[in-house]
Amino acid sequence: MKIEGKEYRTIWFENNVVKIIDQTKLPHQFIIKDLKTVKEAINAIKIMEVRGAPLIGATAAYGLVLAIIENNDQSFLKKSAEELIKSRPTAINLKWAVDRMMNKLLGVNSDKILEIALKEAKEICEEDIKFCENIGLNGLKIIEQIYNKKKDTVNILTHCNAGWLATINWGTATSPIYHAHKKGIPVHVWVDETRPRNQGANLTSYELNEEEIPNTIIADNTGGILMQRGEVDMCIVGTDRTLATGDVCNKIGTYLKALSAKDNDVPFYVALPSSTIDWDLKDYKDIPIEERNSEELSHVEGLDESGKVKKIRVYPKKSKAMNLAFDVTPSKYVTALITEKGICEASSDGLRKLFK
Ligand code: MRU
Repeated sequence: MKIEGKEYRTIWFENNVVKIIDQTKLPHQFIIKDLKTVKEAINAIKIMEVRGAPLIGATAAYGLVLAIIENNDQSFLKKSAEELIKSRPTAINLKWAVDRMMNKLLGVNSDKILEIALKEAKEICEEDIKFCENIGLNGLKIIEQIYNKKKDTVNILTHCNAGWLATINWGTATSPIYHAHKKGIPVHVWVDETRPRNQGANLTSYELNEEEIPNTIIADNTGGILMQRGEVDMCIVGTDRTLATGDVCNKIGTYLKALSAKDNDVPFYVALPSSTIDWDLKDYKDIPIEERNSEELSHVEGLDESGKVKKIRVYPKKSKAMNLAFDVTPSKYVTALITEKGICEASSDGLRKLFK
């Protein structure tokens, strides 16, 4: 998608270096960063220079390419794979991508290993783009239905950033929105700010602006009253891990939005590529929920009056703060899942019908 009119992907490989858009600097600075070692890839995932479930999977895949370039040794590769998987615990795409790479790379001792790794990492990216495009075409049908009935702007609420910046291109939750906009359907997006890291305000609003899609940032607690007033036609969010039961783990605050949506008969959709499905875990209470540094809550970053980026403390020094990064929305609150293969009920039956 576009930034200042130029097409970008979120990650690419050039001259033995992995290129990323440093998302900790957006929206105030657009910086392309080089990752040269697997350690740098692990760090980029940890400190969220790259984030969003599909993109951290792709970064991990390229991280293994960097590991091979650094030291073509199987025990280094295995250790790197373990470190990459540990870099963020909740999004299953990370383990999915590392496992997929390691299936191709384990036991390969020839010089061909780099070629094999590069090919697989590129395929992971190309596949994600195709899947996200299909999610968009499938989700477009839902937006079209609402528009055909309403004959007026479709108001869509989204949480966090499940946009193209969280994937390689298109996004998951935003892909149906981009497709609707391209088709000329008038859409307006309510963008949850998404405290504490403000991925909604800093990333979703930013990328929608760049594609000229009308959007309004709202504080995270505003969605409920907008739904009561009939100002939300549908919600679409992404997910970091969806269980085979249809239970959806996503950015903290998603669950409360789903409860409001249920209470107000607003359809609540979750968009995901199949790489985000955890087919093994049975109980959502077993999903590892990432707890991040409380400084993300107690401090905020923004532009000061001279236009410089500045970080300031907003909480009392003595106060303790707790920063859980994800929550789970049980399947009963999810109207449907929008996947690359089609739309299905958020249930094991629904998912099994699509993914045999
Ligand atoms: O902590 P983040 O910014 O990595 O969390 C991202 C989300 O919660 C997204 O909604 C999710 O990864 C889906 S991305 C298509």
